[in-house]
Amino acid sequence: MNILYTAASLLTQVEQWRQAGKRIGLVPTMGALHEGHLQLVRAAAAANDVVVVSIFVNPTQFNNPDDFRLYPRLPEADAALLSPAGCTALFLPSVEEMYPTPAVLRFDFGALERVMEGAHRPGHFNGVATVVSKLFHLCQPHRAYFGQKDLQQVAIIQQLVADLSFALELVVFPTVREADGLAMSSRNRRLTPDERAVAPRLYEALRQAADLVQAGAEPTAVQTAVAEYLAATPAITLEYMEVADAQTLQPLPGPWQQQAAVALCLAAHLGSVRLIDNVMVMS
Ligand code: PAF
Repeated sequence: MNILYTAASLLTQVEQWRQAGKRIGLVPTMGALHEGHLQLVRAAAAANDVVVVSIFVNPTQFNNPDDFRLYPRLPEADAALLSPAGCTALFLPSVEEMYPTPAVLRFDFGALERVMEGAHRPGHFNGVATVVSKLFHLCQPHRAYFGQKDLQQVAIIQQLVADLSFALELVVFPTVREADGLAMSSRNRRLTPDERAVAPRLYEALRQAADLVQAGAEPTAVQTAVAEYLAATPAITLEYMEVADAQTLQPLPGPWQQQAAVALCLAAHLGSVRLIDNVMVMS
């Protein structure tokens, strides 16, 4: 596995691959890799000739400086996991390499970003769209791989690909969970043992919410039930819980009519760690 640190070296490598007719898979990450990432890498290796994994903790998508500062960074351990999973090249750029000058372009995804993560983390999706666009230009992948845990991010990137005509296929994989249900996340490493012990309650709350939605409950009743369930655990502070149309991510106006998939999404704080999770309800 090659480790590439510069945009120029990645562009040169990609040009050689493209000339040789190789199919390129890209797995963009911020590192601190877990099984969820490795599943994406293995899937990319199975479907493409070469696989690029990028590890870049992108400052422009963090609206909380402490979250950026404390985000786990483990490049050596990550690199050791990637080769066996089928990674051909690890792209490990510096901030200066990705942003030689500050980005001035601003993205506005309309209603899609006025809810949930977009509403609670101003500027977050502008940063995501900026860095993902840069990665798509530098890597020119045939396929790019993302996890469904970041449901709204996936929707934003789908819109990005459509609006800017990126000639690639987006491949989305289901959330990978620990045995106790906690969604795998790089931020889980920052949980204290006590926080880790109660963290699976986020998924429990979502499963209870899914039962309520299926039973025809009003979205506000579902939100109240989740808030009450999580309030019983003082270590957890709920930031939001939304009952949304899975296509548009807009709040469901009334009880589910089984006409379309529903996304149940939440964000919560455990100490200084902010986690998100979601489940789908389908007819
Ligand atoms: O999901 C992530 O890890 C990041 O948001 C991404 C897509 C790598 C962009 O920085």
